[in-house]
Amino acid sequence: MTTPRQRYRRGRLAAAFGGLAAATLAVTLAVPAAAAGSTLQAAAAESGRYFGTAIAASRLNDGTYTTIANREFNMITAENEMKMDAMQPSRGQFNWSSGDRIVNWARQNGKQVRGHALAWHSQQPGWMQNMSGSQLRTAMLDHVTQVASYYRGKIYAWDVVNEAFADGSSGARRDSNLQRTGNDWIEAAFRAARAADPGAKLCYNDYNTDNWQHAKTQAVYNMVKDFKARGVPIDCVGFQAHFNSGNPVPSNYHTTLQNFADLGVDVQITELDIEGSGSSQAQQYQGVVQACLSVARCTGITVWGVRDTDSWRASGTPLLFDGSGNKKAAYTSVLNQLNQGGTPVPNPGNPTPTPTQPGTTPTPTPTQNPGTGGCTATYSEGQKWNDRFNGTVTIRANTAISGWSSTVTVRQPQRIIATWNGSPTWDSSGNVMTMRPSGSGALAAGQTVSFGFTVQHNGNWTWPTLTCSAS
Ligand code: XIL
Repeated sequence: MTTPRQRYRRGRLAAAFGGLAAATLAVTLAVPAAAAGSTLQAAAAESGRYFGTAIAASRLNDGTYTTIANREFNMITAENEMKMDAMQPSRGQFNWSSGDRIVNWARQNGKQVRGHALAWHSQQPGWMQNMSGSQLRTAMLDHVTQVASYYRGKIYAWDVVNEAFADGSSGARRDSNLQRTGNDWIEAAFRAARAADPGAKLCYNDYNTDNWQHAKTQAVYNMVKDFKARGVPIDCVGFQAHFNSGNPVPSNYHTTLQNFADLGVDVQITELDIEGSGSSQAQQYQGVVQACLSVARCTGITVWGVRDTDSWRASGTPLLFDGSGNKKAAYTSVLNQLNQGGTPVPNPGNPTPTPTQPGTTPTPTPTQNPGTGGCTATYSEGQKWNDRFNGTVTIRANTAISGWSSTVTVRQPQRIIATWNGSPTWDSSGNVMTMRPSGSGALAAGQTVSFGFTVQHNGNWTWPTLTCSAS
């Protein structure tokens, strides 16, 4: 048995080598917390992380797309639908419809949402592009307040400010209409976002900030350090991670993530895509996953789209599924790396332990439900974190059955935020999940199958109640 500390050290060591060497060393990292996950979200959940994707509202009618998205991912970012131009096309007139489509789809399927993005120099509505000075500052802060207030309680983390630093060696802020309103525009946006939605984590998000040696990385680091020192409300830093041959995954990625995390913020890979194909692409993906898994406060990874053909850089085939929805080599390497386990996320985003510690207070409700005769559902506890816990339900066939379904009822304010090894549907309250087998549900007498889920408990540690019905 290794201690978390040993695992952490091994993680650091393995990540430091990068590339091929890391692939070999990764074997020594393996301390799987549970049985191997068969989807990205399940495998990531074993170490307390999420695995997400960007979703385009226009593709929600495509069954292949939604099937993959629903099965593999448990964190959703709107690819364009919550940007400034989409949210406030005319001054003072907000259009929530496309953002709502994404947020509702995510919540109906038990997923969390990363909000993207409240303030950015790009994809501004026309009316804002033409503004400057204090008028623009007021309009920007009003936008942040209105959008964050509208989605209050539904957002895991907001990209409050996106891409505010210049590329190259200057380490300067990017010139933009927002920057010209005064250097304090970023912290002003963060304060407005905190006031509007105190429950959301607030992130700064950027690209070309992956290599620790780069001036842009250092500049963002210094800003975050300064914000923490002065009490500006910032909780996380997002690394977009758009890679290609000219901008490969840096071998010091782990160092970058760890150094930011050491400032007291969560770090997240927010828009991952890597142009290429075959084993070289697969290996680069593995390196990114390994870097995140070895940093305790790297809380999750989001890829920027589902299939290659959904990508904003489709010609670079940068994603995990091909145009037909088949899993690529990159998918397999990501899944395998997630299943190697990693430094557990200790206490995500909540540095002060809540008074109720995992395992001390749960009042176990009946762990078995005899069901309707044909099957029995049994609950067993999985890993626990301060804000959530994993559970497994084992379905046992009492006689030969051709199918089954099992309901899992959680209590307010609990929410199921991830599931694996089954196809869930939800009632309108979001409290009752009905799980059905992904494939055939036929079981011989005495045979068992299991599915699992993560409950965000919001202070209520009660176990879910179960039913099982056979057909
Ligand atoms: C991209 C979208 O994927 C495209 O559909 C859109 O045309 C342009 O924006 N950095 C970001 C994302 O923060 O919002 C961008 O998304 C990709 C780069």
